[in-house]
Amino acid sequence: RRISRVESGADLLDFLDRGQSASSENRFTFEVAWEAANKVGGIYTVIRSKAFVSTEELGDQYCLMGPYKEECARQEVEEFEFPNNSPYQWAVNAIRSLGYKVHCGRWLVDGNPQIILFDIGSAAWKLDEFRQELWEKCSVGIPHLDIECNDAVILGYMIAQFISEFKSAAERFSQERGLSEPKIVTHFHEWQAGVGLIAIRTRHIDVATVFTTHATLLGRYLCAGNTDFYNNLAKFSVDEEAGKRQIYHRYCIERAATHLAHVFTTVSEITGYEAEHLLKRKADVITPNGLNVKKFSAIHEFQNLHAMAKEKIHEFTRGHFFGHFDFNLDKTLYFFIAGRYEFSNKGADIFIEALARLNHYLKSSLPDTTVVAFLIFPAKTNNFNVESLRGHAVTKQLRDTIQHVQQDIGRRMYDTCLSGRLPDGNQLLTKEDIVKIKRCLYSLQRHSMPPVTTHNIVDDWNDPVLNSIRRCNLFNTVHDRVKIVFHPEFLNSTNPLFGLEYEEFVRGCHLGVFPSYYEPWGYTPAECTVMGILSVTTNLSGFGCFMQEHIADPKSYGIYIVDRRFIGLENTIQQLAQFMYDFSKMNRRQRIIMRNRTERLSDLLDWRNLGIYYRQARIKALQTVYPDYVDEIGESVYSRAGNFNFPRPVSAPPSPSSSRHTTPAPSLHGSDDEEDSVDEDQELHELGMNNK
Ligand code: UDP
Ligand code: G6P
Ligand code: GLC
Repeated sequence: RRISRVESGADLLDFLDRGQSASSENRFTFEVAWEAANKVGGIYTVIRSKAFVSTEELGDQYCLMGPYKEECARQEVEEFEFPNNSPYQWAVNAIRSLGYKVHCGRWLVDGNPQIILFDIGSAAWKLDEFRQELWEKCSVGIPHLDIECNDAVILGYMIAQFISEFKSAAERFSQERGLSEPKIVTHFHEWQAGVGLIAIRTRHIDVATVFTTHATLLGRYLCAGNTDFYNNLAKFSVDEEAGKRQIYHRYCIERAATHLAHVFTTVSEITGYEAEHLLKRKADVITPNGLNVKKFSAIHEFQNLHAMAKEKIHEFTRGHFFGHFDFNLDKTLYFFIAGRYEFSNKGADIFIEALARLNHYLKSSLPDTTVVAFLIFPAKTNNFNVESLRGHAVTKQLRDTIQHVQQDIGRRMYDTCLSGRLPDGNQLLTKEDIVKIKRCLYSLQRHSMPPVTTHNIVDDWNDPVLNSIRRCNLFNTVHDRVKIVFHPEFLNSTNPLFGLEYEEFVRGCHLGVFPSYYEPWGYTPAECTVMGILSVTTNLSGFGCFMQEHIADPKSYGIYIVDRRFIGLENTIQQLAQFMYDFSKMNRRQRIIMRNRTERLSDLLDWRNLGIYYRQARIKALQTVYPDYVDEIGESVYSRAGNFNFPRPVSAPPSPSSSRHTTPAPSLHGSDDEEDSVDEDQELHELGMNNK
């Protein structure tokens, strides 16, 4: 075997050969999450993006489990039945004979993992029994009214029952075939799945357990309430704080799962620190979040994708700002923030404040440049507002009319030329054409300002984003250089305003701004990075700290880390405004270079490298339950595989003055209209970054 050659997570995947070694060891892994094939937030991204490396490593020895959420599952899961005479099938049959409904299949994502989804409603009649058991074994009482928590209880006990059946089935299967004892690891994510772990342990089902937390309940609540969280972590009276927020029972589940797990992991060091104080256990392993990074065959393909997606955002901008469309799209920059709507946790408060300052800086010193800032947070709405829809309708009408007129002109020119005459420029437009165009121009007139939001928000006067926008006077007037668009819904391609999936939207933007206060990891800036889009994060986010640890100078790679830890709020806002202003000063050439640099960090965030920490956690748990189990990979591989270091780039980061030295065609430099003259390969070569 080639053990000595395993230097990185990626090598490890080659070595493990799609589950061959797990299969020969008779080792099974079940991963349980509320968000398996159920899109809610970042945990869905963890499970989904990791599926590829999980199946590369474990093949069909790997299986996901979660609740059956019809809407998502119907679109994403191809149902099937497990092969007859397999432990999976026996266990599924056993659980069905109890009256529980389960859906088996493969998740239609990269890696195509096996998945079992449990229909919670089908076991609802057992709820009282399950709650009673939880109360008797752990003294945790669940209020009737907390429906989400009751659902988590049902799911947990269904899963524990399944694992117990699977264990017996796998043992019988192995005995019949003379295989070694089956070894089972169950990995649970977040408190909602945690009941399953508690049930397994309190029922003494002898399998290895791992619990990963992606945030703590108390952390999320305390931060949202303007607490000086990180300076007081050691001082909170946890039971009291949870009680005050009526989440004591949920907190108890989270804490019980944390302590009952053989191995406990968190997604970042900072959440590890938080968990140590709030959940009272230090993480055994840190399991940072990765992404399924797709390499393009052409090295700069992502740059082309940016240009194409940006064109679609331009189209939105034309529609949204119709009648006030007094800025040059070629000098327009798109910034955005997106995520679950936790106003201060996600840093939307300081983003809006900093935008107000940026508006002022741009007005006084870069009046040609316009920044359109998108805020994408799902809020309660009564659908799109009429103004937004009208804008898109009238611009579409103008576009269609002009296309029509264009065709007519072409036909007339052709006929004139056929008859041997030169077309007369003054007669190209007919009277009817002019009337048609005038009619469009009249409908383009607008007496109100372009709206700051695309939808009617239900609680308009209490909405925190709208209130901040009002306080900062960011009303999209002609004088404003920063324009605001609040889109209170996640994006998807059926959206009539954008018609873009979130990923495409990100690609078309210039800068993602995520100045979070509470962010255990933060996928949004990580996703920007692998798509080659620059981003702002903070030194309180798991992602920001991870980047700081591995990169000598993150800023020179296009990752701006705002300080939310060691300086006051006012200074943080100033710093963010300055970052955004410096970015606005870059010309196109510099932006292209920076996008190339950012994208080069992708390997660092690839599950092919980061998946190894999940393996480490599983193996540790296995060795607790099966002490004779020997990992074919030595412990040193895990520490070696995580050692990435990105030195400072060879040249200084581009700023309008410093990048001049690195530019192959200095005479052109400084112009924004030089895109064709940008030889990106040459540029990279000069920066010492061309890996061709
Ligand atoms: N996201 C999305 N559509 C949107 C905005 C965000 O699918 O319009 C996704 C985004 O791709 C990311 C997730 O939502 O994977 C948010 O994860 P993150 O870790 O940043 O935050 P969380 O919501 O889990 O706190
Ligand atoms: C990519 C494309 C270029 C385009 C540029 C626009 O790099 O390959 O053709 O000019 O994007 O960059 P910008 O930062 O102005 O959107
Ligand atoms: C949680 C956190 C987020 C993290 C995600 C995935 O939802 O809020 O920061 O990225 O989990 O781990």
